[in-house]
Amino acid sequence: MTRVFSAMQPTSDSLQLGNYLGALVEWVKLQETHEAIYSVVDLHALTVAPDRDVLTRRTRVTAAQFLAAGVDPDRSLLFVQSHVPQHAELAWVLSTFTGMGEAGRMTQFKDKSAQVGESGTNVGLFTYPVLMAADILLYDTNVVPVGEDQRQHLELSRDLAQRLNTRLGEGTVVVPEPHIVKATAKIFDLQEPTKKMSKSFSGPKGLIEILDDPKKVAKNIKAAATDSDTVIRFDPEGKPGVSNLLTIYSAFSGRAIDQIVADYEGKMYGHLKVDLAEIVVDYLTPIRDRAMEWIESPERLDEVLAQGASKASAIAQVTLDRIYDRLGLLPPL
Ligand code: TYM
Repeated sequence: MTRVFSAMQPTSDSLQLGNYLGALVEWVKLQETHEAIYSVVDLHALTVAPDRDVLTRRTRVTAAQFLAAGVDPDRSLLFVQSHVPQHAELAWVLSTFTGMGEAGRMTQFKDKSAQVGESGTNVGLFTYPVLMAADILLYDTNVVPVGEDQRQHLELSRDLAQRLNTRLGEGTVVVPEPHIVKATAKIFDLQEPTKKMSKSFSGPKGLIEILDDPKKVAKNIKAAATDSDTVIRFDPEGKPGVSNLLTIYSAFSGRAIDQIVADYEGKMYGHLKVDLAEIVVDYLTPIRDRAMEWIESPERLDEVLAQGASKASAIAQVTLDRIYDRLGLLPPL
């Protein structure tokens, strides 16, 4: 069976809608037909120097949202990255296969280091995509469901996989394919609809957070920036705000954008926003309730994560042994 791997960072107290529509929805679907492995990548989150208690809390909250959204622990493996030490081990090996220029070209690194300034940046931010490649290659992953912003990182993972196979022999690792669903690959900020919705760059009014108070979710949708025109039409270039709302509407209602546009012919933006707010709130409420149940039973949650880590680690060790052997690292007695 083909294998799926994906991950998210525990960098916030709630996932935002882009994380959900761009990736998590696909995780849940793909586990039906694939062997699925999903991770909360806490080692990646260290690159932004989180507070101790905040990191611990967000790691559980992130895992809870995966489960609440429908990741089924009886079917998929769910684990915390730092519980599987092979990730950091393979990342070191892969860093020796990565060119400085290659890592320096990553646009997320450039954006993030520009945000914090050169003195605030760290080597971990630079090697971040190498650790991500390790996450993926450890599991002989065929398919990686992510949003558009991870495309370049995925490309690096593929290049590294091919390089390993060239240098160490075919079959050393599997070359992964990105799974990026065009319609929802980039959900935009509600206030600045030409920028992606992002926990680190969006302000509170630009976001829809899964665990937010429904009133705030509705308020943000109703206050979303649109344009001075009045026609409801899907035109991402000319009408980014309205088009983003239509994308979200379509994703949550399961209806085609054309149908939605036809239904709102002659109506005002306000109508669309009021209806969308209700659709989103109705959809997210049960997810939020289930996430809260998991958050309120951390022992149960930790048990799921422990079982996931133990199975993931067994798979990862087989890959790491194969790579170490092909590299010529002397095996321990
Ligand atoms: P992260 O934690 O920033 O985001 C998690 C997932 O959400 C997607 N995403 C979006 N999709 C659509 N519209 C948006 N506005 C939006 N914002 C975020 C991201 O594309 C991602 O799929 N480097 C990764 C985490 C990672 C990873 C991995 C992913 C580490 N190792 C291995 C896949 C495989 C990241 O920072 O995602």
